[in-house]
Amino acid sequence: IGASSRLLAVIGDPVAHSLSPAMQNAAITALGLDAVYVAIRVDPPGVAHVIRAFEAVGVAGNVTVPHKLAAAELANGLTPRAQRAGAVNTLAIRGGSVLLGDNTDGAGLVVDLVNNLGVPLKGRRLLVLGAGGAVRGVLAPVLEEAPAVVMIANRTVARAEELARAFDDLGTVTAGGFEDAGGSRWDVVINATSAGLGGQALTLPDSIVSPDSVCYDMSYSRIDTPFQRWAAARGAARAYQGWGMLVEQAAEAYLLWRGVRPDTAPVRGALASL
Ligand code: ATR
Repeated sequence: IGASSRLLAVIGDPVAHSLSPAMQNAAITALGLDAVYVAIRVDPPGVAHVIRAFEAVGVAGNVTVPHKLAAAELANGLTPRAQRAGAVNTLAIRGGSVLLGDNTDGAGLVVDLVNNLGVPLKGRRLLVLGAGGAVRGVLAPVLEEAPAVVMIANRTVARAEELARAFDDLGTVTAGGFEDAGGSRWDVVINATSAGLGGQALTLPDSIVSPDSVCYDMSYSRIDTPFQRWAAARGAARAYQGWGMLVEQAAEAYLLWRGVRPDTAPVRGALASL
C-alpha cells in the first residue's frame, strides 16, 4: 500500500473468523480506494494500549467482542447513538487524531429490515427477545423508526425492565418475561439473545408468532438458526437471520470513515461464498 494509503483494522478476541476484512476489502476494491483492512487479535489487558496507538498513528476501524464497552470508555468522544448504546463498534479519526466512537449495529439492523427486506417498523408492534449488550446496541435507532411499541422480553425480567427505563424517553418501551410477551400479537419479533450461539434452546410461547409476523435473528449461521427454524415451524410469515445486518453495519462504518456508503447488494450476494 502506498504512502497515502490508510490502514483500517478490527480488534477483537477472538477475531480470526471475523468476516469484516473480506467485506471491507471488497468495498475498498469496488470503490478503487487505497486502503487495507486487517483483523488484529487484542486481549482485554491490551485494548487500551492498542486504541491509544491507533489514535497516535491515525488508524480507524471496528471493535468487536469483548471490547465494545471498553472502546466506549477509551474513545475521545461518542456519537449520540454510541452514547446511548454504551458500546462502540466503530472508531473514526476526527480532526487529525481524535478517536470518535460510534455504534453502527442498530443502523445496520434497521437498514436491513426496512430497506433490504421491506419490513417497515413505523407504527408496528415490535418484540425484542433478550436484554444484553446486543439489545442495548440497537434500541436507539430502532426507536427512531417510531414503532407503536417495543417490548423487551428477557429470561431475567429485571434486565429487561432496566433497559426499558433507560430508553423510554425515545418511545413506548415495555418489559417483561417471555411468557408475558405471549399475550399479545407482534408484527416483528427480533431475537437478540445469545442462546443460539451456545447451542442452547430458547423456550418461547408459541403465541408470540402469527402468520403475519416477521421474525429476525440478529445472529447468523451457515444454516438456518434455531430461532429461524422455531419461527418457521410456528407459521411466521418470514424468518430471517442477521447476515444483512452484518453487511449494513459495515457499510455504515465505511460511511463514517470515508463519507461514502458502499453499495451493499453485491456484498450481500457474495457472502454465501466468503
Ligand atoms: P450480548 O452482548 O450477546 O447481548 P449478553 O449481554 O451476555 O450478550 O446477553 C445475552 C442475552 O441472551 C441475555 O438477554 C440473556 O438472558 P439473561 O439476561 O436472562 O441472561 C440471553 N440468553 C442467553 N442464553 C439464554 C437462554 N438459554 N435462554 C434465554 N435467554 C438467554
